[in-house]
Amino acid sequence: MSYLFPTYQRWEIEPEKAEGTMIFGKDGRQYLDFTSGIGVSNLGHRPKEVEQAIKTQLELFWHVSNLFPQSIQEEAAEKLAEASGLDCVFFANSGAEANEAAIKLARKATGRPKIITFLQSFHGRTFAGMAATGQDKIKQGFGSMLETFIHLPFNDLQALENELDAETAAVMIEIVQGEGGVHVANEEFIKEAAKLCSENGVLLIVDEIQTGIGRTGKPFAFQHFGIEPDIITVAKGLGNGLPIGAAAGKAELAEFFGPGSHGSTFGGNPISTAAASAVMEIVFDKDFLQKAAENGNYLFDLLQQHLCSMDIVKEIRGLGLMAGIELTVTAQPILAEMRQAGILALPAGEKVIRLLPPLNVTREEIEKAVHILKGTLRKHVITA
Ligand SMILES: Cc1ncc(COP(=O)(O)O)c(C=O)c1O
Repeated sequence: MSYLFPTYQRWEIEPEKAEGTMIFGKDGRQYLDFTSGIGVSNLGHRPKEVEQAIKTQLELFWHVSNLFPQSIQEEAAEKLAEASGLDCVFFANSGAEANEAAIKLARKATGRPKIITFLQSFHGRTFAGMAATGQDKIKQGFGSMLETFIHLPFNDLQALENELDAETAAVMIEIVQGEGGVHVANEEFIKEAAKLCSENGVLLIVDEIQTGIGRTGKPFAFQHFGIEPDIITVAKGLGNGLPIGAAAGKAELAEFFGPGSHGSTFGGNPISTAAASAVMEIVFDKDFLQKAAENGNYLFDLLQQHLCSMDIVKEIRGLGLMAGIELTVTAQPILAEMRQAGILALPAGEKVIRLLPPLNVTREEIEKAVHILKGTLRKHVITA
């Protein structure tokens, strides 16, 4: 019997230790982790530079409150601002909280009520995050939703043009819809959407919670398309496992987030910001990102080469080290068999297998994962 609410269907493996790309189970077995803790451990488990930064801060102070200036917050905020081209950062504790901050800021700065998001999107489990999310299953049983949000088909420019009006505060979008099935935004759509937003005084919020911090081979996924969002939200990979989220925005938004307008007791916690600063120091390095992008290309080449011709595989999608393999069958039993064979991967929706390896994964590890995935899928073709 568990004392935890059964909100998660937990796997059969209990981790004892984790290091780099590996999780060591209490069952005595080793698992190659292509989940990165659901897109979090972008540098693998317990990278030594991040561990050292945490230890250093642990010996200084753990929490003093946001009444104090804290240079570790400034340091992390500066790195986030510089890499994103934005100016001001609000630190929260999670992705959903980062989105809450972005939504509140957009509403306050524009004085407008409506926020446009997209079908199949995922923006978190708080009331605003849930209402923003374009998936009914996330909302079931929770009653009426905030009316702020309108959900449009992803990549549909005409629908966006029709909906955007003087009541619209913001458009909030994922460049790659992660939880919704690894759907990549169309370049023309994103560029035109950004243009439409700026022509209409509508803020563009890019939810980079899963795609940010190098996941797609650039610091942030919006940078593939040369657009300039007004606000981005980040979490997951930012602390490489320590809880932290952030909303970063343009300088002109600062006046709307003055003292008392928004806050969080733990937001910008010094241990988490120390981890985030160390993470960004590594991930935003040009050579590191180049290598991550090459790893992503290698993964896609292998997936195409080995899986494309299988009947069970409908489509292979993604960007950088964010890959989705859409199947013609339910993904869960295949994922369970992959775990038995020593590789951990994720679902994204019912029929998509999602691979989110750490950015510093090796070619041998990619080869091993694709080999096991192929072998497992093959068995299903035969037995189906
Ligand atoms: C795109 C996106 N936005 C928001 C969230 C919510 O983040 P968190 O679970 O940290 O609240 C997630 C989490 O999966 C996400 O992928």
